[in-house]
Amino acid sequence: MLKNKKILLGITGGIAAYKSAELCRLLVKAGAHVQVVMTHSAQAFITPLTFQALTHKPVYTQVLDGELESGMGHIDLARWADFILIAPASAHCVAQLAHGLVPDLLTTLCLVTTAPIYLAPAMNQQMWQHEATQENIAKLVTRGVKILGPGVGEQACGEFGPGRMLEPAEIIQGLMPPEIHHDMHFVITAGPTQEPIDPVRYISNRSSGKMGFALAEVLAEQGYPVSLIHGPVSLSVPKNLTRAIQITTAQEMYESVHTVLASLENQHKKIIFISVAAVSDFKVKSPSLEKRKKSVELPSLLTLECEPNPDVLASVSSKLRGRPDYCIGFALETAEMSSALAYAEKKLAQKNLDMIILNQLQADIAFEQDNNAVTVLFKHTGKQKPIYLSKAPKTQIAKQLIKLIFNDINVTKTENDYAKSET
Ligand SMILES: Cc1cc2nc3c(=O)[nH]c(=O)nc-3n(C[C@H](O)[C@H](O)[C@H](O)COP(=O)(O)O)c2cc1C
Repeated sequence: MLKNKKILLGITGGIAAYKSAELCRLLVKAGAHVQVVMTHSAQAFITPLTFQALTHKPVYTQVLDGELESGMGHIDLARWADFILIAPASAHCVAQLAHGLVPDLLTTLCLVTTAPIYLAPAMNQQMWQHEATQENIAKLVTRGVKILGPGVGEQACGEFGPGRMLEPAEIIQGLMPPEIHHDMHFVITAGPTQEPIDPVRYISNRSSGKMGFALAEVLAEQGYPVSLIHGPVSLSVPKNLTRAIQITTAQEMYESVHTVLASLENQHKKIIFISVAAVSDFKVKSPSLEKRKKSVELPSLLTLECEPNPDVLASVSSKLRGRPDYCIGFALETAEMSSALAYAEKKLAQKNLDMIILNQLQADIAFEQDNNAVTVLFKHTGKQKPIYLSKAPKTQIAKQLIKLIFNDINVTKTENDYAKSET
């Protein structure tokens, strides 16, 4: 896929610049033509000579470079590139790009080019989570810039959180166009469930169904068969689904999911199960068949006797026979990042999932909102570190998640490919 691609690899001043030498080596190995451009600060972290040796080409560092201008020139260099990849992309670089500033060669090239731009941000977690950086990233995303990562975890500064540059192999995966896997079928649950108290009242939650519907919509647009089983929502069902089934209660969702999975069993397809629905953990034990009257039946203190609902996700992901090939859960947490991550890791293991997507409830993301920001954890954590997807519209998050799902499904194959190409 990268063979003969002309890649302009930008390096900015961050501690992760040491990983860019490996990234550069892998790109060259994959058959790409790589031209490195470094900022002034980047050269304090790693020398141009390293990249010159890896690419067999001079590294460019300045706009006012007589040698560059006597040859290709900065405009030609921007036109030459099939795409620009900046890794690491510092907070400073992200801010300059968001504001259209061009103080150096790399930022100038980004303003001149009409080719796609990919950024692999790398910075301290506070810097990454700062409103200014998040606004800059959101601005770049709306302009079509693709953001790879960052990862979540231990940082060089000793802190923990989102901001690590993705590993070189993960960045390369992020550059690949999504492969179409015709042998797959996606089964997605979305929205809330409603558990009746009486014919007019129910227990439910604030799930809008927007995230699950966005995933179903993007997958169907990409040509994948999708079965969507959803609770009561006020959204239009996406076009071109294989089926969309509306249910009300958790019990109905459980039955519907298992009926759909059973119907797919002999189709010889890879089944990907994505549980986005916010399923009620409990239901009222004996809902009243008639509306409960305030004056007669309701005392000043009302106690509802509840019993557990079936765990739809666990019942699918823990199946001994007929388990889908890949199971994904969502976890909504109100705790701070490290506790939320610990909880998500526990759920990933306990429910035998392949991937878990952590939502941290904030005023303007997750429930009912059009935007989301998530952290993705993988079963194969040794292979892939958690990845943080910063605030973006849910369809944008859905596209990024779909890429990560395919990457993870292919991760073993990819690692073997790289292992074979080691020198
Ligand atoms: C030791 C050290 C490590 C740094 N690491 C990072 C980093 O990982 N990410 C970042 O955005 N800035 C980092 N900085 C700050 C940048 O180097 C600084 O903002 C610089 O102006 C970036 O310039 P550039 O974007 O033009 O390359 C670091 C600074 C020092 C001294």
